[in-house]
Amino acid sequence: MGASQVWAQVPRASEVVETVPPPEEIVSRYKRIEVADHPFFITLAQGPVDLEAVYLLMANLQQGTSGSFINRLATTVARVDDRRVASLLAKQLSYELGAGDFAQIHSVLLERFVTALSPWCARADDEALLGAGRRLAREGARPYLASDPCEALGALMVGEIFGEKMEACLAHEMRRQLLVTGDALRWLEIHETIGARHPHAANQLALHLPRGGPSLSATWRGAIDQWGTLWRFLDDVNEMLIAMRG
Ligand SMILES: [Fe+2]
Repeated sequence: MGASQVWAQVPRASEVVETVPPPEEIVSRYKRIEVADHPFFITLAQGPVDLEAVYLLMANLQQGTSGSFINRLATTVARVDDRRVASLLAKQLSYELGAGDFAQIHSVLLERFVTALSPWCARADDEALLGAGRRLAREGARPYLASDPCEALGALMVGEIFGEKMEACLAHEMRRQLLVTGDALRWLEIHETIGARHPHAANQLALHLPRGGPSLSATWRGAIDQWGTLWRFLDDVNEMLIAMRG
């Protein structure tokens, strides 16, 4: 076969159809990864209850999300064309804002949880301990700033999956102790309840997302980027904890 015949068999770039898996595959791929397998949670589960480590995690989570999550969610509601997607996101936005009950606004409940944990950390007022949260705020913003809002949707889906898994690990830890109880745990209870009531929220969203073209690629891009950011957040908290204890 001559060279010209070989080249004739090679498809031109415009003919190569890349197969990007459908959005449901994002959900199943990330649901298979266990947040409990992250070294931070492995160490936490193995030893006696470590409220200082839980404080460090929650204070950084608060730093990384409380000031920005509502705005990101609301901005995405405004940017998506599909009203079904907007409807699912608006429901989540309403939960985050306490569905009209100011006492149930999630950032208020998170603040209460962090405050109740703070006595177990001698350096609780040290801003240097919040580096993981500052990086989470900065790098977690990336998919929301992308030109295609589907990147934000991919990020929201994996954020939901990650959050649910992380909250299960936290709930397991907090049930092993009796020092932080009652109202302080409302943030955790509320997330466990929402998770139990809406176990398929990410699946529901996936069903209404584009199944091809640049927007499907954007959804994957946002999902991969955000999951990486969240995993690195746990790496950062873990490294800080190890460094703190020298
Ligand atoms: Fe929340």
